[in-house]
Amino acid sequence: MKFLLVTDLDNTLVGDDRATFSLNQKLLSLRDEVCLVYATGRSYPSAQRLKHERQLLEPDYWITGVGTEIYRRGKSDQTWASQLSHDWDRRAIVSITQSFRDLVFQPASEQNPRKISFYLDSENADAILSNLQAELDRAGLSAQVVFSSNQDVDILPRRGDKGLAMTYLREQLQVRSDATLVCGDSGNDISLFQQSTLGVIVGNARSELLNWHRQHGQSYHYRAQANYAWGILEALVHFNLWDADF
Ligand code: GLC
Ligand code: MG
Repeated sequence: MKFLLVTDLDNTLVGDDRATFSLNQKLLSLRDEVCLVYATGRSYPSAQRLKHERQLLEPDYWITGVGTEIYRRGKSDQTWASQLSHDWDRRAIVSITQSFRDLVFQPASEQNPRKISFYLDSENADAILSNLQAELDRAGLSAQVVFSSNQDVDILPRRGDKGLAMTYLREQLQVRSDATLVCGDSGNDISLFQQSTLGVIVGNARSELLNWHRQHGQSYHYRAQANYAWGILEALVHFNLWDADF
């Protein structure tokens, strides 16, 4: 039986190089027992670049574009992609966003057929985004709006986010929820924590994730003291996974 470790990259696995290195060592020693998955908002090419820059381990799977893409050995999972394309009208969604003047398109490299991303810098961000979600709902468009780090807005298919992508893989791999640990720091990780697996919120987590945890946190969610990958290591000890025999 394998253990599944699903971690966000920026400001979770990555942020303190010494911490990343220590976790890597631990994972290498458990390499046969652990299935490693990176779940990031970045595009696949951008995540690959980060892997080289920060000397990350090669994972078994990549969940990129906030869950809109899954890659294994350089190949995108077409079953997942076509599942998300169902009921998704990108053009109609983009056209609704055009009346929201505070939304600034992110670069083309961060857009994909099932992910529309913007920057938003406004004190009224929450109100603007609930308005946006309401407009999308009113138009009968199936989409979810995700806000991260007080600046990034992603519009995603309802059935496509990090959490649902993780569950899709977990079920394929037939790993139990209690042998799965998800790790994150910001808004686009909330969906990971909504899937009833073990979870760690790293010490440096952003307010939107902390607020969510305050309202919806469960006993199987652990709020680490330590930052970045030190927080993941702390959680491995907390959940007794350090020397676990899977
Ligand atoms: C990454 C992506 C960006 C996304 C953000 C939050 O920074 O590059 O497109 O908006 O994550 O999910
Ligand atoms: Mg992050």
